[in-house]
Amino acid sequence: MKIGIDKLGFYTPHLYVDMNKLAEARNVEPEKFTIGIGQEKMAVPPVTQDAVTLAANAALDILDETDKEKIDFVIFGTESGIDHSKSAGVYVHQLLGLNPEARTIEVKQACYGATAAIQMAKGHIALHPESKVLVLGSDIARYGLNTAGEATQGAGAVALVISADPKVMVLEEKSAYLTADIMDFWRPVYSDIAFVDGKLSNEQYISFFGKVWEQYKEKTGLELKDFEAICYHMPYTKMGLKALRTVLDEASVEDQERLLANYEISKGYNKNIGNIYTGSLYLSLLALLEQKDDMVAGARIGLFSYGSGAVGEFFTSILQPGYKDHLNIKQHADLLSARREVSVSEYEEIFEETLPIDGSTMELDIDKDPAEICLTGITDNMRQYVNKRN
Ligand code: HMG
Repeated sequence: MKIGIDKLGFYTPHLYVDMNKLAEARNVEPEKFTIGIGQEKMAVPPVTQDAVTLAANAALDILDETDKEKIDFVIFGTESGIDHSKSAGVYVHQLLGLNPEARTIEVKQACYGATAAIQMAKGHIALHPESKVLVLGSDIARYGLNTAGEATQGAGAVALVISADPKVMVLEEKSAYLTADIMDFWRPVYSDIAFVDGKLSNEQYISFFGKVWEQYKEKTGLELKDFEAICYHMPYTKMGLKALRTVLDEASVEDQERLLANYEISKGYNKNIGNIYTGSLYLSLLALLEQKDDMVAGARIGLFSYGSGAVGEFFTSILQPGYKDHLNIKQHADLLSARREVSVSEYEEIFEETLPIDGSTMELDIDKDPAEICLTGITDNMRQYVNKRN
C-alpha cells in the first residue's frame, strides 16, 4: 500500500525582523547572520499567536469537508506546548471542526516531534487505509534577547495530511534512526527559553546525519546518485549545508551540483522565517516542492530529521504524478509577502510581552493580528481562542 503526504500547509506570523538590523543592534557584522548563519528575516510571533494558533492556521486552508470527516487521528508535534496535561491538538481539533470520532495526542522530542508523528501516522494508515491523519508541527523558538541563539529564533507551523494513495509524495518503507542521550539543547519545564550548547549541538547534528546516512545506505543499497534532493532540519540555513558537505565527495560532480542547487532552493522559506523547530524540515521540503519547477514524478527526496537531546532519522519519499497541482503555492507566497517588518525595539517589546501566570485575566487585542485563528486572552488559567471564520 502507498502511504504518504497528501496535503501540506504552513503558517508563520505576520511580523518579522530584518537580520541586518538585528546584527547592527547587537554590534555584529551583518554577514555573520546573513552568510555565517544564513538567515535574512526572523518571524516574530505576537502574543496573540501560540503553538495552538500557529498549527490551526497552518491546517485551516488545506482541509476540505472530506478530510475533516476522514481524519480520525490528530498528532501534534511540539516543544512549545501550553499545558503539561491537555494536548494542544485537542484545541486545534475544536478550532477546525474535525470529526469527534478521532484520537488526538501531543508528541514531543524537540525538533523530531513531527517526524515521530508522521511515522506513527504511517502505521495508523497501514491498519486503517480509509482514514486520514492530521500531523501538526508547531513551535516558537525562543533563546532570549542578546543570546548567541537569538539569531536562530523563529515561529511557525506545518500541517500535513497523511493518507493512503497520497497526492504529493509516498513515504518509502525503509528508514534509519538513532537515539543518544545528549545535552546539546533542552528546556526545563520552568523555563520559557531554551538552554543550548551551540557548538555541541552543531557537532551532534552532523554526527547524527553521518550515522543515519551510513545506516540507511547499508539497509537499502541506495547512494547519493539516487536522490533528486535531500531536505534537512534547518535550525538555520547553513546547518544542513554543513551536514550535506560531509558526504558530497561520495557523489559525481553532476550529482553534487544537483544536490547543492536543490539545497539552495529548499532553504527559501526557512531563511525568511527562522527556526520553527519541529516544522523546520517540512518547511524546507515545502520550499523545494513549491519553488522548484522541473522535478518529475518518481524522483526521490531524502529527509533528515534531527531533534536535540537527541533523536535523528533519515527517511525518503517519492514524488507523485501531478503533485504540484495539490500545493498552495500562491497562498504561501501571499502569506510571506503580506508580512510587516518590525524594528528591533518593537521586536524586543513583543518578545517580553507574555501571558500572566498568576491566574489573572488578560484580554488581547486581536484586531492587530490578521490571522484567522488567534489567542484572545486567558481567564481562570484557561487560554481562550477564536476562529474568526466561525
Ligand atoms: P555563535 O557562537 O554566535 O556563532 O553561534 P559562530 O561564532 O559559531 O559563527 C557562526 C558562523 O558565522 C560561523 O560559520 C562563522 O565563521 C560565521 P561556520 O564556521 O560555523 O561555518 N561568521 C561569519 N561569516 C561571514 N561574515 C562574518 C562572519 N562572522 C562569523 N563577518 C550558533 C552560532 C548557531 C551556535 C548559535 O546561534 C546557537 O547556539 N543557536 C542555537 C542552537 C542551534 O541552532 N544548533 C543547531 C544544531 S541543533 C538543532 O538543529 C536542534 C534545534 O533545532 C533544537 C531542537 O531540536 O528542538 C536547535
